[in-house]
Amino acid sequence: MDFELKTLTLPQATDVAADALILLWPDRADADADANTDLAQWARAAVADADIEQAVGSVLLAHRLPGVQARKVALVRSGDGSPAATRKAVLAAMAALKLGSAQRLLLWAGDVSAGALAALLQATAEASYSYTHTKPKAKARTLQSVTVGVRDAAALQAALAQAQACVKGVEWAKEWANRPPNHATPTRLAEAAQQLAQGKRLQVEVLGPQEVAKLGMGAYLAVAQGSQEPLRFIVLKYQGAPKASAPVVLVGKGITFDTGGISLKPGPEMDEMKFDMGGAAAVLGTFVALAELQPALNVIGLVPCCENMPDGRAVKPGDVVTSLSGQTIEILNTDAEGRLILCDALTYAARFKPRALIDVATLTGACVIALGNLRAGLYSNRDELAQALQAAGDATLDPCWRMPLDDEYEEGLKSNFADMANIAGRPAGSVTAAKFLQKFVAPEQAWAHLDIAGVAWKSGASKGATGRPVALLLQYLLDEAARMAKESVPMPKAAAAGAKRGKR
Ligand code: BES
Ligand code: MN
Ligand code: ZN
Repeated sequence: MDFELKTLTLPQATDVAADALILLWPDRADADADANTDLAQWARAAVADADIEQAVGSVLLAHRLPGVQARKVALVRSGDGSPAATRKAVLAAMAALKLGSAQRLLLWAGDVSAGALAALLQATAEASYSYTHTKPKAKARTLQSVTVGVRDAAALQAALAQAQACVKGVEWAKEWANRPPNHATPTRLAEAAQQLAQGKRLQVEVLGPQEVAKLGMGAYLAVAQGSQEPLRFIVLKYQGAPKASAPVVLVGKGITFDTGGISLKPGPEMDEMKFDMGGAAAVLGTFVALAELQPALNVIGLVPCCENMPDGRAVKPGDVVTSLSGQTIEILNTDAEGRLILCDALTYAARFKPRALIDVATLTGACVIALGNLRAGLYSNRDELAQALQAAGDATLDPCWRMPLDDEYEEGLKSNFADMANIAGRPAGSVTAAKFLQKFVAPEQAWAHLDIAGVAWKSGASKGATGRPVALLLQYLLDEAARMAKESVPMPKAAAAGAKRGKR
């Protein structure tokens, strides 16, 4: 889908050929709204006559308005113009328009902010996404182009580029998470990742069972051993800065199907465990966006992929395995498999000496109970990193919330037969999973863990992947690149001298 920004006044918007026109109408209406044209008068009158409510997302539709090129027009209230209100407004307008086979959409957004522009693009993409990979008769997305009319297109060009890349990354993640588990196998996912290597500055390497065994990833191997599908460990390297610059390392849980293994899950909704590679999809989707934007920092992606299956050869409750770190683990529940593949990837990450290490995983049902489907669980051993991630999530409407990591929580992970067990009791299940992971990260290493079990997909009638938290991760990385650029700018001479004097 193509997005385009145009400097457009409201009167000019009437002359643009499009199948549909959405008019975003904030509470503090744009000066353009005073324009003396049919369209502006219609909108103003509708608001004045209270034929459209003030609530964000209220929509009034019109058909073949005189003097307007677009056949259908949706006037929609966008409240304070914040990203959240803009998103809500666009989704409501798109739903009301029932765009059908429309190909060209014009969205008049006036003096929209950069953040609201991103929300607006994401919302149009979301509303027009259609899964077709295994539904050959389903209607593919017809919407080809979205033109956004704004007050000053030049001022928003950088925001457009970022939002467009973000949409691309989110859609990549969504598409692969949605694909059925017999289609999105570890092998297929690795092949898809390899295709990304065509992107500039991006390298992809894929390890198989033998290489992973040779490395000594005993925990990861234990999960994979019950499956006929061979594991794939995907390693991505995006180089946007000099080689010596320490990378951010992203780790994504890639369980392409989680039956629970010998600790078999109950039947209802088990199909949704195809989404258990949501962390992997988000990390890969983030690289799709990085390849587009080419920011000045280095990023490594580590994506352990495999199935978790019951089998004659499957790992059993009580089995003890040796992780890459050398620590032994008693696997008391084979359904707590995510932490087993992640712990070896976290140990592997140390070789890159990361400036920050961030893992993303659909890790625990307990996190869904704690935070529901709005915010992801955020754990970190550094306040700064936690704040940066939370800010990135809030800014992109992909929010998370910090959870605790007190050492007392790891009590329950004690084992009589290994250095640790892979489960603790039922209380605080998301926290104890995070404490397990922390045992594989050096205290000197800035680390964060995002439990995305509640946000990676939707259940019920609108069952499908969300592509979260690509937007959060991308925003964090771009912010980090900006911080790095600032730090590396040499101080002006006078200030540097002052700083030296101050030190004495
Ligand atoms: N992939 C699941 C977590 C999950 C469950 C995410 C439901 C979303 C919805 C994970 O592998 C798992 O099974 N976790 C167990 C851990 C338990 C055995 C300690 C869980 O949450 O029940
Ligand atoms: Mn599981
Ligand atoms: Zn799982």
